[in-house]
Amino acid sequence: FRRVLFRSADAVDSTHETSGGHPRTNGASSTMSTEIDSIAVIGAGTMGSGIALVAATSGIDVHQVDLSSDQLERARAYHDKVLSRNVQKERMTEDEKAEALARISYCESMEDAGAAGWAVEAATENPEVKAKLFKTMSEVFPASAVLATNTSSISITSIATATGDAADRVVGMHFFNPVPVMKLVEVIKGLATSEETVSRTIALAERMGKTPIKANDRAGFVSNRVLMPMINEAFYAWMEGVAEPEAIDDIMKLGCAFPMGPLRLADFIGLDVCHHIMMVLYEELGDQKYFPCPKLR
Ligand code: 3HC
Repeated sequence: FRRVLFRSADAVDSTHETSGGHPRTNGASSTMSTEIDSIAVIGAGTMGSGIALVAATSGIDVHQVDLSSDQLERARAYHDKVLSRNVQKERMTEDEKAEALARISYCESMEDAGAAGWAVEAATENPEVKAKLFKTMSEVFPASAVLATNTSSISITSIATATGDAADRVVGMHFFNPVPVMKLVEVIKGLATSEETVSRTIALAERMGKTPIKANDRAGFVSNRVLMPMINEAFYAWMEGVAEPEAIDDIMKLGCAFPMGPLRLADFIGLDVCHHIMMVLYEELGDQKYFPCPKLR
């Protein structure tokens, strides 16, 4: 007899049923609606620009915020490129593309986005930077706004301490790269996060065509607690000469149905990001098994 964890799909928490929205267009088929008609996305890097695009194609007005005008320009070019491909693939019309682009405004200051009813932070993975940003976010956005972070590993509870009495509105809203393609949003409840904030986050993620799944506020949440040690182990396997890097990736692709091998995925995520997340796991969970492979440095 095989030991199994789940006897059927029914045994899994129903929180994460799919909404059925198209991953690269919009997910307007949500069963729950939210009152949100505009969001601010703080940070216009890979993740921030992806989140902004998915929100805009879901009919939400977006303020894409970044201190760097160059970064905003790159985000604008990325939005145009992905939407043009959607038109070319007949997933949307030229008019729908123009409407989506018109929903995004690009601003260099958070204050310019201050009317937004929701904020998602997708800036540098640095606790001090996030603390400063969240303090400002709690001052700039309306008292009803959810203040979400796309952090991949920093504690939601500790980020929330920067916001004083807004801590109940701080939540983890963890998207995956590339955001327009990947279906998951990991929703993380900090110690002070209210149930209302969590349910509003689930509703917004569904409206964006994503599948929200809840996780608790422990280092790496679920995604990076599981993914990063696997990537780290692939680097150790390479370092110890178990196989050449190409072979490691091909074995995992062909044998375990990964879309890309763990070493290539590490490149895609960024070796610095992988190293940083492993250090968070190592320091917070206190187990030698999380020590980052020297090859990740
Ligand atoms: N933005 C928008 N669309 C994109 C895209 C991007 N950055 N990258 C790829 N796509 C689209 C392509 O346009 C294409 O769509 P179309 O042909 O229907 O128009 C489709 O995705 C497939 O792309 P490709 O044919 O170029 O290549 P692949 O089939 O190899 O797919 C991939 C690329 C989707 C990136 C796939 O390799 C994959 O799923 N890789 C694994 C990604 C993954 O694991 N992400 C999670 C990273 S961990 C994370 O984000 C958490 C963080 O905390 C670390």
